[in-house]
Amino acid sequence: MSAIVVVGTQWGDEGKGRVVDRLARQAHLVARYNGGDNAGHTVVAEGHTLKLHLVPSGVLHPGLVCLIGAGVVVNPERLVAEMDELAALGVDVGPARLKLSAAAHMILPTHRALDGAREAARGPGSLGTTRRGIGPAYADKAARLNVRAGSMAQPETFAERVAERVEAHNRHLQERYGAEPLPSERVAADYCAYAQRLAPHLTDGSALVGEALAAGKTVLCEGAQGLLLDLDHGTYPYVTSSSTVSGGALTGLGFGPRHVSRVVGVAKAYTTRVGAGPFPTELLDEVGDRIRQVGDEYGTTTGRPRRCGWLDLVILRYAARANGLDEIALTKLDVLSGLERLRVAVAYERGGVRTEVFPAEFGVESLAQWEPVYEELDGWADDIRGVRRREDLPPAARAYVARIEEWVGVPVTFIGVGPAREQAIVQSP
Ligand code: GDP
Ligand code: IMO
Ligand code: MG
Repeated sequence: MSAIVVVGTQWGDEGKGRVVDRLARQAHLVARYNGGDNAGHTVVAEGHTLKLHLVPSGVLHPGLVCLIGAGVVVNPERLVAEMDELAALGVDVGPARLKLSAAAHMILPTHRALDGAREAARGPGSLGTTRRGIGPAYADKAARLNVRAGSMAQPETFAERVAERVEAHNRHLQERYGAEPLPSERVAADYCAYAQRLAPHLTDGSALVGEALAAGKTVLCEGAQGLLLDLDHGTYPYVTSSSTVSGGALTGLGFGPRHVSRVVGVAKAYTTRVGAGPFPTELLDEVGDRIRQVGDEYGTTTGRPRRCGWLDLVILRYAARANGLDEIALTKLDVLSGLERLRVAVAYERGGVRTEVFPAEFGVESLAQWEPVYEELDGWADDIRGVRRREDLPPAARAYVARIEEWVGVPVTFIGVGPAREQAIVQSP
């Protein structure tokens, strides 16, 4: 009886989808616990490249139950479209298999409009959100104004509540941003149609997870985004609006910490960030361009080019602490092949003062004053995509992985050497 929590350790897009797909082999239930369709999780398997935004990344494993948990904000239009795409591929997304927590919150089209209007109003200081309405939906949730998924079970009151919220948002959109209002009755009618599709999937998510754990089953908790996008522990305000850390699995799904047996932190072998905000090891030169090109670093959700930089071990140490990591799943090691010299940040320095602690809590102005201190490591020339055992990696690649383990104090139990399921070196079950 145990829960395995998978988290992103950087700024998202670390490869959580493929790691969850791997760990799902040993799970009975896979549950997304935070975020919404701002997430884009890729699974390359069985001849498909799935880009999942809301449906948990274990969905390709038949017999596994998939839950969208209470901590998630759901755009029903997106969820229905994703279910249709999966069904067209022959994947079972019926109500017995894909469950939606009644306590999850709804994203309305006016949340998306507000997200866009706020970003536009920020001008050059915009956060670079995905404009999926994530921030406004979580804000309404915290203000106790929002519509929850469970309301879809009562079509008459659901339509009324949706229309009432859309009208309230419309007033704000018009008065504050001079934006066009959205037709509340049409939105309510659309949402009733989605409700008809989604109502059979509604469940008590916390009870589902609790029953699975009590029956000795393994629950795999899938985090979205990454540590530095966490609302409390990230690079605020350049963050998302949910708890991306391992603790978010407990609050987002509704179970207790003693059930957690493993916390797996997914880390890219270098660092990327999409959207605005500080990024100490960012590379604005041809090395950064090369990593972007070889690593195909373009957003899964928005297609935006991702900012690329060296691996930052100060961040991974912070991730080990803030999440209580037991293991690191290191992805995209193959992308570094062919670079003669590699750098990893091992500390930050400011005015002759050195720190090995990521300065998260004092804000982005403080973070901007720190310069990374690099250690140089040898690169390797060989193509490693066919390697399946750690001892068969070129010595410099082995040393790179060992340096991460040494510095972070957490074992690397999975190494991605390509995007496909089999392109991995796996050390634990
Ligand atoms: P997530 O949001 O954390 O699930 O990550 P994304 O799916 O947004 O981005 C990760 C990208 O890297 C996807 O395109 C994956 O197919 C790809 N990927 C994952 N692991 C590896 C790997 O080990 N090597 C390579 N080359 N690509 C990988
Ligand atoms: P996955 O789960 C990378 C970023 C956005 C922006 C900030 C706030 O695929 O790793 P939001 O729309 O959430 O209000 O945007 O967070 N962001 C992500 N970056 N991967 C993600 O998800 C992200 N989800 C949000 O780019 O900087
Ligand atoms: Mg992603």
